[in-house]
Amino acid sequence: MIISIDGSSGSGKGTLARGLCGMYHFKHIDSGLLYRKVAYYYLHAKEDLKDVHSFIKNIDKINLDEVSESILRSEDVAQKASEIAVHEIVRNYVNDEIKRLVIDQSSEYKGFVIDGRDIGSVVFPNADVKLFLHASEDDRLTRRIQQNIELKIDTSHVVDLQNRDTRDSTRKIAPLVVPSGSVVIDTSLMSIQETLSKAKEIIDMNL
Ligand code: DC
Repeated sequence: MIISIDGSSGSGKGTLARGLCGMYHFKHIDSGLLYRKVAYYYLHAKEDLKDVHSFIKNIDKINLDEVSESILRSEDVAQKASEIAVHEIVRNYVNDEIKRLVIDQSSEYKGFVIDGRDIGSVVFPNADVKLFLHASEDDRLTRRIQQNIELKIDTSHVVDLQNRDTRDSTRKIAPLVVPSGSVVIDTSLMSIQETLSKAKEIIDMNL
């Protein structure tokens, strides 16, 4: 079973995905984290790999798992992830990785919860359950600051959330949209528990 969760930064996708995976013993794939890994290594790439195309063509030589999550969650990496995510070659690489992870682990897990911006629209348009999370800007900002505090990340650049959301929603390839057939959940006034119960209701109808 494939469950897609799309939405803008700080809408609660990660928290919901982790909660659902705990509940159903499904595997969580955080596509934003994959873009962040690519962005981190791109930021630190040698001069001759500063062209995105050459970088992606050589990416198999890098072990993308050597950097800590708190570094990947920093604002610098987030901004760079949003910038490189406009390139088709980067999106194709990440989308192939997501599909490979699903295939490789399909004997271990009965379901996958995949969160991002284009999962229900582009990567898995036939997902069994498509969720789209919406939250007010104030709530999203508060959550992102809270997450940064928990991960001990400097919060001084966090206001760029809007800049990133605008880029993610207006890019030509795979912009953030409400995928057709998705259920929109407005998490602004909902607790984590309420959001989880609502999502569980929808998933149980499709099990
Ligand atoms: O979900 P996140 O904030 O960790 O994502 C970081 C950036 O990666 C986001 O600003 C845009 C990009 N991204 C994307 O373009 N498509 C996805 N499916 C997930 C993330």
